[in-house]
Amino acid sequence: MVVSSAPGKVYLFGEHAVVYGEPAVPCAIERRAQVTAEERDDDRIRVRAEDLSLDGFTVEYGSASDAAPDVDVAESLVEAGMGYVDAAVEQARDAADAPEAGFDITVESEIPLGGGLGSSAAVAVAGIDAGARELGVELSTEEIAERAYRAELAVQDGEASRADTFCSATGGAVRVEGDDCRAIEAPALPLVIGFDGGAGDTGELVAGVRALREEYDFAADTVSGIGDLVRRGERALADGDLEELGRLMDFNHGLLEALGVSSRSLDNMVWAARDADALGAKLTGAGGGGCIVALDPSDGTETALKFTPGCEDAFRAELDTEGVRVEDR
Ligand code: MEV
Repeated sequence: MVVSSAPGKVYLFGEHAVVYGEPAVPCAIERRAQVTAEERDDDRIRVRAEDLSLDGFTVEYGSASDAAPDVDVAESLVEAGMGYVDAAVEQARDAADAPEAGFDITVESEIPLGGGLGSSAAVAVAGIDAGARELGVELSTEEIAERAYRAELAVQDGEASRADTFCSATGGAVRVEGDDCRAIEAPALPLVIGFDGGAGDTGELVAGVRALREEYDFAADTVSGIGDLVRRGERALADGDLEELGRLMDFNHGLLEALGVSSRSLDNMVWAARDADALGAKLTGAGGGGCIVALDPSDGTETALKFTPGCEDAFRAELDTEGVRVEDR
């Protein structure tokens, strides 16, 4: 039995635009998904999910031809959680050249599913590491990131950047531009997260931005404007200029809002943070619902978010410098 974990992340800048080759800067945070993989003596997969921000469930299946899992939660949520586990298992089998390997998998996650904190990437990264190790193969961090990216591509119909999976595999702050992924230095960041209890459909939101970008030149300009903003953000990060970082986060939220990926609850939380004198605030991840990230060294934003209608949870998040790792059990 092997237990691996990988961190979630927030986007300081650049989600959505990164899908079109613009740079993005995600940062890993100290909230992890943990995957336990135990090889079975048949070719079946049994998955137990503990906290994917929905009621726990267990499903067992043997092959794609098996009937849909008989479980007691909304099928779309099961599919969302299962898709990434399934794709991770495929990658682990492929890495170990063991296409028939069966597993008992347990997923325990502190990261809300679909909430913009990279839950699916963390599950894919930890799942590939645990599954491959259980089959006797130790993959490099780069290979785990590459395989997790392929797993996301498979689940998201070919619409994914390397940002979430690379960041979760390596930890820390990273810069991603197309295939170029690298670690970058970041100062201590006073990050505060607000979560509305909801989730967006990444595939649908990415497709929506694609459609706008194809229809309107000014939407395409908005996407490349986000790229310009990220380049400025990188400089602010290197200079440790938190005030400029905050201003750029506010701007980035406005551009994402224009691209149709915000929501009333995300906007409410962003405004609550601004009213509480946060240095800046923006949605993080695909949007549509889920989380915002604010920059605030004081307690103001966290307190304000706790009293904001529609905000279900507010917490401080530390940068996690450690990526995928094996856990002792
Ligand atoms: C989702 O967490 C981030 C998006 O940019 C999609 C991606 O990069 O794969 C919306």
